[in-house]
Order: sequence, then C-alpha cells, then structure tokens
Amino acid sequence: MGQGVLTVEGVSLRAIAEAVGTPVYVYSAGHIREQYRALAAALAPVRHRICYSVKANGNLVILGMMRSLGAGVDIVSSGELARALAAGFTGADVVFSGVGKTADEMEAALQAGVGMINVESEEELDVLAEVAGRLGVVARVAIRVNPEVTVDTHPYTTTGTKGKKFGVAYDEAEELALRASRTPALALIGLAMHIGSGITETAPFVDALLKVLDVVHGLRGRGVASLTTIDLGGGLGIRYRESDRPLDVNAYADAVLPHLATSGLSLVVEPGRFLVGNAGVLLTRVLYRKKSGGRMIAVVDAGMTDLIRPSHYQAYHEISVDGGDGRPSVPYDVVGPICESGDFFALDRELPELKRGDLLRLGGAGAYGFVMTSTYNARPRPPEVLVDRDRFALVRERETPEDLMRGECLEPPWRSVSR
Ligand code: LLP
Repeated sequence: MGQGVLTVEGVSLRAIAEAVGTPVYVYSAGHIREQYRALAAALAPVRHRICYSVKANGNLVILGMMRSLGAGVDIVSSGELARALAAGFTGADVVFSGVGKTADEMEAALQAGVGMINVESEEELDVLAEVAGRLGVVARVAIRVNPEVTVDTHPYTTTGTKGKKFGVAYDEAEELALRASRTPALALIGLAMHIGSGITETAPFVDALLKVLDVVHGLRGRGVASLTTIDLGGGLGIRYRESDRPLDVNAYADAVLPHLATSGLSLVVEPGRFLVGNAGVLLTRVLYRKKSGGRMIAVVDAGMTDLIRPSHYQAYHEISVDGGDGRPSVPYDVVGPICESGDFFALDRELPELKRGDLLRLGGAGAYGFVMTSTYNARPRPPEVLVDRDRFALVRERETPEDLMRGECLEPPWRSVSR
C-alpha cells in the first residue's frame, strides 16, 4: 500500500484530519457510485432491484446517494426503517429482514407499506398475520429459507448453514411458505436467502439458489402461483488486503442469472459491504509509542469502540501512514486507548517507522465500521465525512460527552407502585 500523501479522491486526508480532528470516518462518494454501477451492469440481463443493506453503513447521506442511484433498501429494525424513510425511500423500496422483528416493528413496517417482509420462523409468520389482520392490510411476505450450504467465511458471519438461527430450516420452508400462501392477511410473493457475509466464491450462492429454486418448484407444483421474487441476500466479498481475491460481480452474475432466467422470478440482492466497504477509511493519529516485551507498540487515538472488526473477527484492515514513504519498516502492534487487551487494529504489522502525531489510514472501513461503534469508556463516536471529487463535507458531527449523558439524571425520578 502507498505510504505517500494520502488522499480520498481529490482531497488530502491531512486536510480533513486538520479540519475535523481524529478519529474520523471518511467515505468516497465516487467509489460507492462505481460499485453500484458495476453491480447494476452485471445484473442487467434480469429484472432486478439492488436493495442496499442499511446495516453496513446507515449514514443518511449514503442512504440518499443509494436512493439517487436507484437502489432500494434492506432493513433489519424499525430504526433502520426510520433512517430509510428519512432518506426519502418509500415503503415500497424496503425489504425487511431479521430474525427477531417485534410486533411493533411489523406494525411500523406495514404502516409504511414495505415492499416485502422476509419471515424467518413459523411463530413470526403467525404474529405478522395477526398484526396485518388487525391493521386490515395484506402483508407481502417472503419466506427466508436457510439453504443449509457450506460457506468459507468467518463463523460469526456465516448464516446459511444447518442449525443457524437465521431463516427457516430447509426441510420446513416449503410447508411454511404454503401456509403463508393460504393465510388471508398475507401475500406470499417470494423466497429469500442470505448465506453469509464476505463470500468470495460463487459456488455457495449457486448451491443455495438451486436449493431455494427447488422449493419454488415444489410450491408451484402445489398450486402456488403468487411468487414473483427471489431474494439472494447480500454477502458479496471485497478485497481487504492486496492478496485477497474478491468476488468478481460478473462471475457472480454469470453463475446465478442463468438459473433465475428460467424461473421467471425477478431478483432482489441485498449487498452492504460490496457497495460501501472499500469506500470508507478511518483516520487516526499516533498518540504514543512504546516498547514492551520486545514489541513495538503504537497507541493511536481510535479504538475498538470506533472500529471493532479487528478485535471481534480478527479482521485485517490495511494501515497506511501519511508521509510514510522512505522510512524504514518496523513491526508494530497498533492499539487503541480502550482498557481492553482486545483493543487493537493490527498485531506485529510491518509499517513505516512511526512518529508521534503521524496520521494513519485504516482501509476497508466503510462497511460495519461506524455502525458498530460503541461508547464504552464514555468515548463519543467519531464524525463522518463524505468526499466527492475535490470537496468534502462533514455528514455527521462528532458526538460530545453531553450527547452521551442524554436521558440520564442525578436524582432518580421515582414512581411509586402498589404491591
Ligand atoms: N442481508 C441480510 C439478511 C444480512 O443479514 C446481511 C448482513 C446483508 C444482507 C448484507 O451483507 P453484506 O453484503 O454486507 O455481506 N459485521 C460483520 C458483517 C455482518 C453481516 C450481517 N448481515 C462484519 O463486520 O464483517
């Protein structure tokens, strides 16, 4: 990775760090547009909708960009629904997935007129039918099938293997879908799957799709004529380090589209990481250096509270040093200020020799970065900046300690209850 003067599009990261401080997330609008267009072009041979997975990065400006590009959204909570609506999406643009939707969330979704609710269990189906019946509406549903295929990704991001909490067990999916199709408050319009995240091979998508199509055939054979949609989920893997071989979207399209073409169903995909992962970086500065037990340690001003992926999944994020060109290479543990030994970004990583105040860029931080932040150690969350060509804008302010105390009090407002 280059260690010269670091930029995102035409803007120097040093200028952003000086203007808004560190740590800070910086996103490239241009990269998001390129990724969206590449995927849309690859899927062009079939009727499709790209429903951006809000959980990857829910910043309103990014959601607004997705909407302008023509995307719909995949949401997982009423909080994400509120964000999507605030960004100008209509209910019809929304697919609502998630293993534990509450009745209140279903009600909010039905009131917003969401396009499709992906149901993940029999009990959930009953609750949805009850809520829709009470509201006097018909809920458009898909059954999320667990296709029970093997996927080579981190165990925490595998969702489509046998026994996982996600989706309806494969051998029960057809019966449940049939039930949905016969429930007056429900319209069965599709089948859905999402087999995991960060998948770089096409084979698991094809294996899973074929199994889901078997369920489609089974249902059609039993007289169900209402299916219009197949939702393949997200999961398209990207490059985090130079040696990674990311999923090629054209290979993905070549592998899955022919199977769909014969089904007559239109396609929904729910990518998150593919669209925004490499659009984002996290900027942080070196606070202190020290040696301990023969290791060189660089303490930076971002921590696991700002980007949890290295700590939580042992994820690799590239680190570049602004102005680091030409310096000797030294192995560092790059760690944050949080009171946890798991608070690190890289262990034993060869980097240009670091100085106090150096600006570091952590790559691949656009997906599951800001959205997974916490405020542990009473650390306000970092701001977010969007770059478009030669301009940048602060699109979320840095949180303040006062923000974190909102809703608390010194004197408890007791309420008496009789026993
Ligand atoms: N659809 C559903 C139903 C999902 O559960 C997910 C992600 C997606 C779509 C989008 O997946 P993507 O295209 O981004 O891979 N925090 C983890 C990733 C968890 C993904 C959860 N579900 C990480 O940092 O790697």
